[in-house]
Amino acid sequence: MSFEDCRELFSIPPDVAYLNCAYMSPLMRDVARAGAAGIESESQPWTLTPDGFFTRSERLRELFARLIGATADDVAIVPSVSYAISTAARNIALERGDEIVVLDEQFPSNVYPWRERARECGAELRTVAVPADDDWTVAVVASITKRCAVVSIPAVHWAYGTLIDLVAVRRAADAVGAKLVLDLAQSLGALPFDVREVRPDFMACPTYKWLLGPYAMGFLYAAPHFQQGRPIEQGWITRRGSEDFAHLVDYQDEFQPGARRYDMGERAQFTLAPMVETALERLLGWGVDAIYSELSLRNRAIVERAADIGFIAVPDALRAGHYLGLRHTDGLDAEIVPKLAARGVYVSRRGDCLRITQHLYNNDNDVDRLFAALGSL
Ligand SMILES: Cc1ncc(COP(=O)(O)O)c(C=O)c1O
Repeated sequence: MSFEDCRELFSIPPDVAYLNCAYMSPLMRDVARAGAAGIESESQPWTLTPDGFFTRSERLRELFARLIGATADDVAIVPSVSYAISTAARNIALERGDEIVVLDEQFPSNVYPWRERARECGAELRTVAVPADDDWTVAVVASITKRCAVVSIPAVHWAYGTLIDLVAVRRAADAVGAKLVLDLAQSLGALPFDVREVRPDFMACPTYKWLLGPYAMGFLYAAPHFQQGRPIEQGWITRRGSEDFAHLVDYQDEFQPGARRYDMGERAQFTLAPMVETALERLLGWGVDAIYSELSLRNRAIVERAADIGFIAVPDALRAGHYLGLRHTDGLDAEIVPKLAARGVYVSRRGDCLRITQHLYNNDNDVDRLFAALGSL
């Protein structure tokens, strides 16, 4: 199947131009079907064997691991980024006066856990100001001083679409012995990423955006040296021997191997997990490199057309190809998002940017509708 035909995989009406993957991906038809089958299985719990509590979770770990160049042992199943970052925050040792580097206007799920942790141990948040030249990499690296204990950032700024060179940040963090924690909600699945190259200590990603899966599931990668830590929940299924339902009350302090100890309770998720599995299989089949090239081309075309009507993107060299945050020379109409929605065009506004995030389900018609709607405002 070529990328041009991908819209058929989704149930998006022709008069809806949904350019908002960074908000929430629509579900593919087969992902929705996998969810319906999951509901069916929960309607008939006599079909759910104890084995079913484990096998699909392991399959999800394997698929996610393949996407990021890790092993299944390195992957925990979580409900959200906030849960994953909270897990990272409670497992990184911090002392009074240590600094935690975050970006200005960073998504709150990667800020609140650090604020709480900083209060507990007398550490401080160091917020990297929005750089006037859009070069976040230089700004982040310059903020990593000897006091820095953790850098907790995304790969792409969620408002502007600006790219951060994670390898350069890792190098700077290594130089002062700081840990690197990543929230890849706005890039993983569309922007190539490999843990062997970036070597994060922890990395979080929800499934409902660029992984094209459902809401309320996500993954936490924990580097091998962080796989002996304290989970948020004291669950039963993460314990050694939990496969043996007859002996669950032979209470067990040991955990299952690897990052499994960080899994959320009820992680088997009989409805959501098959949806995540279907979505990840599809993504791996397409390949993230190919998705990134395709979305980059399509976004370049939007940037060129948008420039004619006064919209400015971050320069290509500093922008993630799959992501667009457009500023306007005259500022944005306060009502631009509802006005576009009234014309069947769905985008977001973040800060002073109109955020346009397409995926393979979009087509030329959607882009024409976007420009017709912008032109009519
Ligand atoms: C950068 C980023 N991180 C995380 C999230 C979601 O966080 P959570 O899973 O905690 O709701 C979003 C949602 O928009 C986001 O843009």
